[in-house]
Amino acid sequence: MAEPILEFDDVDIRYRTDGDDVRAVNGASFAIDEGDYFGLVGESGCGKSTIADSIVGGLDDNGEVVSGEIRFKGEQIQDYSESEFNENVRWKEVSVIPQSSMNSLDPVMKLSEQAVEMAKYHTDLSRPAALDRLRELFDVVGLSESRISDYPHQFSGGMQQRAIIAFALFLQPSLIIADEPTTALDVIMQDQIMDYINGLKDDWDVSMLLITHDISLVFENCDSMAVMHGGQIAETGTVDDVFDRPRHPYAILLQNAFPDVRFPDRELAVIDGHPPQLRDEVDFCTFADRCPWAEPACREGAPPATPVAGDDDHLAWCVRAGEMSELAANHLERSTESTSILEGGQ
Ligand SMILES: Nc1ncnc2c1ncn2[C@@H]1O[C@H](COP(=O)(O)OP(=O)(O)OP(=O)(O)O)[C@@H](O)[C@H]1O
Ligand SMILES: [Mg+2]
Repeated sequence: MAEPILEFDDVDIRYRTDGDDVRAVNGASFAIDEGDYFGLVGESGCGKSTIADSIVGGLDDNGEVVSGEIRFKGEQIQDYSESEFNENVRWKEVSVIPQSSMNSLDPVMKLSEQAVEMAKYHTDLSRPAALDRLRELFDVVGLSESRISDYPHQFSGGMQQRAIIAFALFLQPSLIIADEPTTALDVIMQDQIMDYINGLKDDWDVSMLLITHDISLVFENCDSMAVMHGGQIAETGTVDDVFDRPRHPYAILLQNAFPDVRFPDRELAVIDGHPPQLRDEVDFCTFADRCPWAEPACREGAPPATPVAGDDDHLAWCVRAGEMSELAANHLERSTESTSILEGGQ
């Protein structure tokens, strides 16, 4: 069995604001095994980037991990200082391709010099070897090798995003966190970059946390995944577990909103209704208001992690997880007789 490279154990993350705190992540637990590519999907605002940022100490200044443990290679990192994150986690061990490329590159330094500095600090690569590696990665992301000596501002937004992807791969980190890495790029470039990322496993021991709205990217590239809803993890397991045997209502509705899950529309399906504002204590299932199967217990406590078919690696956070297989089958039968799955069980 592979050891986990990253573990979230009952993690709560909040943002302080002038009014009530935003409880962005509540009781989140999941694990990424060494060598696995792990997909994290969920609607806008459900807490995906917050999770990504917390792993490298990159939460906004008003954000804080208030409870739970985040472990990287077995070490608790949730209380690390800025310098501990820099020394032990960022870049060499974990690199991030952020959702927005703004401000991730040093604006006053040529890209070639940024690469040389990085190599000097973290590796024993010589200057020519570092530049060669940067040229090679520029080629992968479709940037002309001759432009390694440019400043970031000489690049367009899409080119900057590609340069950041090149930098994220530069030090061959153990974990790459890719937060919507290719959303801003055209489809051919997306495919080229994802193909390359997919092939990295052959070159070094790398794991990935891939955050995306694009379910097909998760199918094509990931081993395991988690589905999030309203600041809670709804379900986690292997990609096959979650899509062939979903037990959380949100995962079930997502699956059935696609004509064929193996060849879905690229974007996450839209489910009726909205997640709640997370300002008060989140001691309820955040999907309850949208769920065809909700019962009073769903609003009387945070949902428990329930192993599916006795498998501790396939978990659904639903009080009715044990009944869901049957309930969903009945519901789907009835709703194909009426109009749509999403209207069927309200
Ligand atoms: N600095 C902040 N201060 C207050 N609230 C914040 C802050 N950053 C994020 N939030 C809130 O935290 C919640 C989770 O945001 P997050 O950016 O993690 O969502 P996401 O899943 O990455 O969404 P998207 O798919 O749109 O990128 C949202 O309600 C968001 O408004
Ligand atoms: Mg985000």
